[in-house]
Amino acid sequence: MHPFEVTGGVQEEQLQQSAIKVFFKSITHLKEVVEREKQKKRVWLKTTRRLMQSIINLVSQNESFMVGLTNIKNYDEYTLNHSTNVTVLAICFGRRLGLERKELVDLGVSAFFHDMGKLEIPEKILNKPGKLDDDEFAIMRTHSWHGAQKLACLKELSILPVSAINVAMEHHIWANLEGASYPKYWKKDHIDFFSKIVKICDFFDAVTTERPYRKKTATREEATGWMLEKIGSEFDTTLLKVFTNMIGVYPIGSLVVLDSEEWGIVMETNPEITLITCPKVKIIADKDGNKIDGGIIDLSERDPEADKFKKKIVKTLDPYKYEINVSEHFLAHSG
Ligand SMILES: [Fe+2]
Ligand SMILES: [Fe+2]
Repeated sequence: MHPFEVTGGVQEEQLQQSAIKVFFKSITHLKEVVEREKQKKRVWLKTTRRLMQSIINLVSQNESFMVGLTNIKNYDEYTLNHSTNVTVLAICFGRRLGLERKELVDLGVSAFFHDMGKLEIPEKILNKPGKLDDDEFAIMRTHSWHGAQKLACLKELSILPVSAINVAMEHHIWANLEGASYPKYWKKDHIDFFSKIVKICDFFDAVTTERPYRKKTATREEATGWMLEKIGSEFDTTLLKVFTNMIGVYPIGSLVVLDSEEWGIVMETNPEITLITCPKVKIIADKDGNKIDGGIIDLSERDPEADKFKKKIVKTLDPYKYEINVSEHFLAHSG
């Protein structure tokens, strides 16, 4: 099966159900890992690796749906949901970069544990409404090395990829090592390739998630816009280009208005570069503004008589502003 093909029917539905299952299982598993790590018990890294294998299988069968699931935000604790989203995005990204399966598992594990150090940060700093002051920010920054230290002390260190320790340490380091980059390395200028991948996925998921300290939650297309402003400085140039290409002009989960005045949610981007503005869209409101559970339409379909696309996107809207929970439309597939 072509990785981007949506087959529809029973097989597709089963695939989506297992994707949802694996997604929530990952959140639960990370919660268990965190608990067990606190008690200095074994953390079942083999289970983590098996979960990564499942995510890789699902991504190779239906990448769009998996990316769609990363619209789920703040389920259970923020860091658990966020780490799962970053893992899914990193695996999709790594696959597009041509990484081999074993590397994808290592990348997934590294992304999954990137924020382990947050466990050491007091709750009142983690969830502080408003900006952190200098002292609080200094404490926040310690989550990088706290994370690296925790991972290096795991009982199952022998089956943990070294990159996981690097990623925990380096996922806030800028491509040019300047700006708000942290930590500052002394006599080390080589940053792990996986850290650069996770840095991008981490930023994208973080700014698109509602948080008490952030005034504005970015829509998915705003987020890629913000990131492109920092191409070459905060983010690696080549990697960011591949990532924005993966996310698309109208990222999966965007709320869009069509020329028919219907509202829809982007469910799948078009892999054909000339059809990048023609994703598959699920209709959620008719032209009179009534909420409906409409079907999924392919905007690359043309009207042969008029020789133009049947429908096209005229603008995007901010789902937060209209209180539309995008993830519900992906979860609805579970039946
Ligand atoms: Fe972090
Ligand atoms: Fe993070």
